[in-house]
Amino acid sequence: MTMVPPPEGVRSSADVQSRLERDFQETRARGALPAPDGSIGATMFDQPGSEDNSITVLLGRDKLQMAPAQSLVRIISRGDQRRYLGVVTAGPFAEPDSLRADSNILVTVATRGGDYLPSFHGRVQVTLMGEELADGTLSPPRLRPLPHSPVYRLDEKESMAVLKSAGDLRLGLAVGHEQLPVGIPSQMKSVLPRHTAILGTTGSGKSTTVAELICQAQAAGMAVVLLDVEGEYTHLHQPTTDARMRASLSERGLEPRGLPAGSMTLYHLVNRETANPDHPARQQFSLQFAHLSPYTIIEMLELNDPQSERFLYAYDLAKGVLRDTGTFPRGTASKEERDSDEQFLLQLDEFERGYPRMTLPLLLDVVTYCYSVVSKSEFRPFCKELKTPEGIDSLTKHVDKKSLQSASSWGKVRSVLWRLQRLKIFDQRSNEVQLLRHASLLKPGHLSVIDLSDSGMTELTNIVIADLLRGIQEAQENTYTEYEQQRGGGNEVAPPPRVLLIIEEAHEFLSAERIEKTPILYQQVARIAKRGRKRWLGLVFVTQLPQHLPRQIFGLVNSYILHKISDPQVASTLQKTISGIDAGLWNRLPGLAPGQAIVSFPHMTRPMLVSIDPAPGQLRLID
Ligand SMILES: Nc1ncnc2c1ncn2[C@@H]1O[C@H](COP(=O)(O)OP(=O)(O)OP(=O)(O)O)[C@@H](O)[C@H]1O
Ligand SMILES: [Mg+2]
Repeated sequence: MTMVPPPEGVRSSADVQSRLERDFQETRARGALPAPDGSIGATMFDQPGSEDNSITVLLGRDKLQMAPAQSLVRIISRGDQRRYLGVVTAGPFAEPDSLRADSNILVTVATRGGDYLPSFHGRVQVTLMGEELADGTLSPPRLRPLPHSPVYRLDEKESMAVLKSAGDLRLGLAVGHEQLPVGIPSQMKSVLPRHTAILGTTGSGKSTTVAELICQAQAAGMAVVLLDVEGEYTHLHQPTTDARMRASLSERGLEPRGLPAGSMTLYHLVNRETANPDHPARQQFSLQFAHLSPYTIIEMLELNDPQSERFLYAYDLAKGVLRDTGTFPRGTASKEERDSDEQFLLQLDEFERGYPRMTLPLLLDVVTYCYSVVSKSEFRPFCKELKTPEGIDSLTKHVDKKSLQSASSWGKVRSVLWRLQRLKIFDQRSNEVQLLRHASLLKPGHLSVIDLSDSGMTELTNIVIADLLRGIQEAQENTYTEYEQQRGGGNEVAPPPRVLLIIEEAHEFLSAERIEKTPILYQQVARIAKRGRKRWLGLVFVTQLPQHLPRQIFGLVNSYILHKISDPQVASTLQKTISGIDAGLWNRLPGLAPGQAIVSFPHMTRPMLVSIDPAPGQLRLID
């Protein structure tokens, strides 16, 4: 071993050591270091820079590693014996006992390869969570622990009780603890039905978290509907084959597994591909055009004012044709049935849904007719209603030829409707194709993946999502009404399923940029969010671009799973939007590893850093 020459002013390293040892003995004699009663450290005197609710704790050298970040401690104040609970939010740091860490001596010794290690102690910063009252509840502290109060570490069981992090939908393990599970209580109405956001940069672990959540929610008997924009979740019935996931699973003593047989259905639009054509429960579906509110269509197709005006005019003409041809209200029906049709129309809110029996070919014909009038071109109808004398009569009678104007606006409306029509996704029915029945998505313990990976145009994806939101909400309302009626009649009935509706790539559907242009859509989402609380319908928004989500959405969300966010501006905006997460946790956001997340839910005492369980099911990798 090479000898390091002692730094200037110091005769020998033995000299330094004896000086430090002396300091150390004195410190111990003063009682600043832990007494042997199970405590791991003691609180330090406050300094001018000390802050409320934050206290510095000194640890003996041998206890240094016993207070990792995020672990919980109890401080029993010297003298008044008040008990405080706190969480380690910075450190553990190692500091030399008597010299400054950056003193010439220590720097020289370290950099010249000396093997002399001066005595040192640990320091952690503890954020006070509250004062523990006699009944075990926590109240905001009015005082702070006095200096040199002993500090004890809470064991896992006690930590779990304090953090209230348990829940039957297990998410993962708390960071800073050995084996402290974190979960979501699926039965609590104050948690999932108050909506969740899962945010994080690309590759931060969002999809894995979603897959894990789905798997847990399915097992807990919830009805899960997932809007899968990229077809990522279309293989969840199979166990994961990803080597890294399997290794991470086995580290946690978990097994790769797909969803139980029969508990997943994969829906995809008719005439569109699916990301997994081999799925055992694949179902093609088509949308009912009549269900779409004309206003939703306008927003989704991004029609401008003159175009919207023409679209609505055509929509009204088409309604006239449906009435005059006896399509709706039904001309052939009995008087009671016709009355009920009229009643239905009286209550119809066209901001919610469209006119019964409305079809896209009819609307397209009406628009083409108007276009042909202004452009003086020939018109030939395609739809069956306009091939009847009553139909064409109704159209020509009601149209005000002088006010039509502008071939270009009519032409534009016609071309967007044509694009929609060419997709052939509305009102199709055959042995293989069903109209989407939303009530059938509300099966307990069942996952419905709506694969939109090949929808062909964003507008279409958004139309499908809008239709699903509306349809699922309506179906859930109906189930509740039925349930309440039956229960009112004294019957023993099972309550409606708890529903979880997950929207991947939520920023594409709900964007801050578009919200001005899509007020109806936003109101619809807000309404579902509000009613969802009463009707057990929880929304989950997933996005890597939280900055593109309208701020209003954050007002609807109460729970967050925040994966790594590297953009400081995005992180700071979120910090202003989401309350209750302390600075120590926010600081860690840019440095989180894939699969780690800050988890903030209403049932928890405080937000926690969680290492999310790897997903047992197969995720399709997207390049
Ligand atoms: N909980 C986890 N445990 C172990 N590894 C994980 C975990 N979560 C994510 N990973 C790793 O990180 C990778 C990316 O995760 P994932 O696809 O879930 O991220 P993402 O946020 O959905 O990304 P994107 O924005 O591209 O959709 C995974 O393939 C896996 O290797
Ligand atoms: Mg993803």
